[in-house]
Amino acid sequence: MSFFENKVVCITGSSKGIGKATAILLGQQGAKICLNGRDETALQKTLKELKAIGIACISIAADVSKEEDCTTLIKANVDHFGKLDILINNAGISSRGLVEDISTEAWRHIIDVNLLGSIFPTIHALPHIINSKGSIVFISSLGGKVGMPGQSNYSVTKMGLTAFAQSLHTEHKADNIHIGIIYLGFVENEKDKKVLSAIGNYVPIKQLNNKKPTSREDAALSIAKAIIKRKKKVTLTVLGKLQAILLRLSPAAVNWYLRKELEKFKEHYN
Ligand SMILES: NC(=O)c1ccc[n+]([C@@H]2O[C@H](COP(=O)([O-])OP(=O)(O)OC[C@H]3O[C@@H](n4cnc5c(N)ncnc54)[C@H](OP(=O)(O)O)[C@@H]3O)[C@@H](O)[C@H]2O)c1
Repeated sequence: MSFFENKVVCITGSSKGIGKATAILLGQQGAKICLNGRDETALQKTLKELKAIGIACISIAADVSKEEDCTTLIKANVDHFGKLDILINNAGISSRGLVEDISTEAWRHIIDVNLLGSIFPTIHALPHIINSKGSIVFISSLGGKVGMPGQSNYSVTKMGLTAFAQSLHTEHKADNIHIGIIYLGFVENEKDKKVLSAIGNYVPIKQLNNKKPTSREDAALSIAKAIIKRKKKVTLTVLGKLQAILLRLSPAAVNWYLRKELEKFKEHYN
């Protein structure tokens, strides 16, 4: 029997992208899925797709940056399925902009979505996860290990998740729950993916690099494995593993790489 058989999984930001691929994978392994996103139309489309392949699922439109929406999200999930085994804090937005150009609104918005949008669902899910001895997983990025040029606000939020996950892990060690954080590398984007601009509006993404991305399905598989093995920390891709080694052995090499990334950013955005 699959590890995920009859497990109840809530995945924030699962109407598309990596969250949707993870919902499909875990659902096909027997999990009961709670889908989430803000756009009701996209959510309904995904709900229909998952139901058509026999996955037991519900969808809750909720904005994770709003605490009252997170209360509703977790409550609706538990009211419907009777429990919650796994929370995957995946909802997140990427950003572009140099430090001096990023508006106050853009700072507040990305912190609300990427940081508080993982903290609020976690706080509301915690009693249920303690009950089920389940998992809380945070989806971070290689930009959560170094301050990325042109994406400082994104890096700040993803680094914040590391601190939150660590505190949570220590505070709840005795509860025997799994707290995991996954640092994804470049993952294939949805065609219509948007990012937060420096002035704080959503704009179509421009790819900054020509590195071959991981498929969303492979990213989902890595998330599933991290949950099964109750991993505290997982870093994906060769670049991610190399970055982790260099951060320990040669920070100067990492700084060199980041300066190259800044040049690329300026070429694309100025
Ligand atoms: N793609 C990559 O290369 C990459 C690399 C490293 C890390 N990551 C991380 O992986 C996660 C997923 O990324 P992705 O590429 O799959 O993004 P995506 O394709 O843009 O999908 C994001 C999902 O989150 C939802 N969402 C956005 N803001 C939300 C909010 N305030 N409340 C609720 N749902 C919200 C979106 O639906 P609505 O817009 O309808 O709300 C959508 O379902 C993010 O945390 C991202 O930082 C991605």
